[in-house]
Amino acid sequence: MEKITISSNENIKSEIFIENGLINSVEDFFEDRKYFLITNTTLNKLYPKIVKKFDKKRVIVIKDGEKYKNIKTYNYIINKLLKEKIERRDCIVALGGGVVGDLAGFCASSVLRGVKLIQIPTTLLAMCDSSIGGKTGFNSNYGKNLIGSFYLADKVIIDTDFLNTLNEYEYKCGLGEIVKYALIEKSCKNEINYNLLDVLSKYQTQDVKKEINYIVKACAHLKSRVVELDRLEGNLRKVLNFGHTYAHAIETLSDYKKFSHGEAVAYGIKCASKLSFNLGIIDRDYYDRIIYLLNKFQLIQKEVKYKKEDIIKIMKQDKKVENQKINLLVPTAPAVVGLFDNIDLPSIEASLL
Ligand SMILES: NC(=O)c1ccc[n+]([C@@H]2O[C@H](COP(=O)([O-])OP(=O)(O)OC[C@H]3O[C@@H](n4cnc5c(N)ncnc54)[C@H](O)[C@@H]3O)[C@@H](O)[C@H]2O)c1
Ligand SMILES: [Zn+2]
Repeated sequence: MEKITISSNENIKSEIFIENGLINSVEDFFEDRKYFLITNTTLNKLYPKIVKKFDKKRVIVIKDGEKYKNIKTYNYIINKLLKEKIERRDCIVALGGGVVGDLAGFCASSVLRGVKLIQIPTTLLAMCDSSIGGKTGFNSNYGKNLIGSFYLADKVIIDTDFLNTLNEYEYKCGLGEIVKYALIEKSCKNEINYNLLDVLSKYQTQDVKKEINYIVKACAHLKSRVVELDRLEGNLRKVLNFGHTYAHAIETLSDYKKFSHGEAVAYGIKCASKLSFNLGIIDRDYYDRIIYLLNKFQLIQKEVKYKKEDIIKIMKQDKKVENQKINLLVPTAPAVVGLFDNIDLPSIEASLL
């Protein structure tokens, strides 16, 4: 079993366990406290054996979909937890993808000013990214994830067997975030080099599946390293937002329907790379390599039809905006990105599709 520990200098610790079949004995992770399961309707149906390990009255099932990642669902969960008399020493278990994980995480951080949290990610995206590092929250009408907290899970239990039931589309969405890791790897200050860019360049989607344990472990290590060094996103952690300023604008304009998060991130990567190429930062070879990768995994197939000014308007509302300037991460060399705060609006506009 692979174990990664994130220890922050404020004495906060998060342990990540990765192994096939780990979920079958999930109770081995349990201690003498009450466990509240938060999951969605889809996983509730797909994994009844896991759900049954929890006391029925402590199982909270929410509707499935990004559009339910809102204050109404938050309120629903909190009321259920309080009705069943959750206590400070109890633990919330999030079983699901990024939507369940983000919402359940924020509930854990806010109910009774914080209870314990276990994340059990079930999508590729959640295993590689969202379940690790403690960003929690939900969407507001003004944009994505604008309400939230930093709250590390005590434990993250990653079992890639969950991917056997994940459909092709969701699998692909996870690949969007994985391509991001490949393009930022050298900016993550990790000691071990996983060569994700070479690994992804080498394989077609089906072969990537055979290598998925290696890839998930690599992404988990990269994210953990970045979070350990900069949990509250003072500086280094910003690298994880590569592609995301564009992505959030596209997701908001599509009302979280037409584009999944992973696809939106892939578009963001495409735009940021185009920007870098247009500004003469990266050469044609590297730009083509990035676009080839995104195309190979069919991540940028859909047409983005939104008006440029609408995209820019939302980009300006992003959390990462400081002093009205859009801070953007762009590729600067293979597997390296740099943060720029002085890019003029016409260049940003020209990088849109
Ligand atoms: N907290 C973070 O650091 C962070 C990072 C990246 C993304 N996110 C957030 O994560 C969300 C996207 O996460 P996601 O892509 O996991 O989407 P998701 O949670 O909506 O899951 C995608 C779909 O797959 C289904 N599903 C989940 N596991 C399954 C399984 N094992 N078998 C079959 N179906 C399964 C879900 O029910 C859902 O329909 C976004 O809201 C995004 O903002 C958060
Ligand atoms: Zn993301």
